[in-house]
Amino acid sequence: MEPVKCIGILTSGGDAPGMNAAIRAITRAAIYNGFKVKGIYRGYEGLINNEIKDFTTENVSNIIQRGGTILKTARSEEFRTPEGRKKAYENMRSHGINALVVIGGDGSLTGARAFAEEYDIPCIGLPGTIDNDLYGTDTTIGYDTAMNTIVECVDKIRDTATSHDRIFFVEVMGRDAGFLAQNSAIAAGAEAAIIPEDQTDVDQLEEFISRGCRKTKNSSIVIVSESKKDGGAMHYAERVKKEYPQYDVRVTILGHLQRGGSPSAADRILASRLGVASIDAILEGQRNVMMGIQNDQVVYVPFTKAIKNDKPINRDLIRVVDILSI
Ligand code: F6P
Repeated sequence: MEPVKCIGILTSGGDAPGMNAAIRAITRAAIYNGFKVKGIYRGYEGLINNEIKDFTTENVSNIIQRGGTILKTARSEEFRTPEGRKKAYENMRSHGINALVVIGGDGSLTGARAFAEEYDIPCIGLPGTIDNDLYGTDTTIGYDTAMNTIVECVDKIRDTATSHDRIFFVEVMGRDAGFLAQNSAIAAGAEAAIIPEDQTDVDQLEEFISRGCRKTKNSSIVIVSESKKDGGAMHYAERVKKEYPQYDVRVTILGHLQRGGSPSAADRILASRLGVASIDAILEGQRNVMMGIQNDQVVYVPFTKAIKNDKPINRDLIRVVDILSI
């Protein structure tokens, strides 16, 4: 394997607050250790279309506090094909890039893994997604900020829910994972959370109503994880309207506002630590691993593990919502 001299950085998939803090940390730690750095724009699309620029420490000044990603991002269909990855490899070589750091979620790391299997390129991943659904890391970059955004919104919804004695179904993101829904339900004091991990045999709506959703309160907030399968918050609101017409129901879908905003201190610190760790990993000769955090320690998680395994939700969290919603 040739010695690494130049590191390419890209962000891919859905943006997440803290991605800029990660770009800053990777760039600065790389330059500190004598590497050249290139910024790759629009994720794998930019690698295929040659949108690559030299990066210095100035390129990453004044960005730690900014949401989104200065490198832009995309979900690349072409990179899923061997032809697309070949183009990407050729562009990388022509720029002298011989290691890649990818900041993104499940799909982005799956791309990095396929690339690393075909070409002799050390690829390092940073978990960047609000969904917190990557196995092997306690938390992902962007998750804490998104959660705080949700809680701020739900606090506001509660004011109007209480004034009108209504049930609100608030839909949050998470793709197939209920971490945002479950934990924001605890933090916002919601009466219930409906999450995909709990949708096996129980009817979560039935449970919520039958345990007396409004025994002691006249309004309720139910956080619903988005779901392609059952239609999310709208679906549950429609059911209540039909099955329990005595209740006054409303729906709020928080949508992409959950992905924006200045990153929280926790996300900035996580991104900075994992960014520095990614360069340590390259110096140690690591390849095809995701940087993770477990019990406040940085860990290297093989791509195969991070992508393949479903990250389990802590069942205690479900109990906490149930107990506290009386
Ligand atoms: O993976 C991050 C995420 O925000 C998911 O929670 C959501 O399902 C998806 O991306 C939305 O993607 P897009 O911005 O492409 O609509």
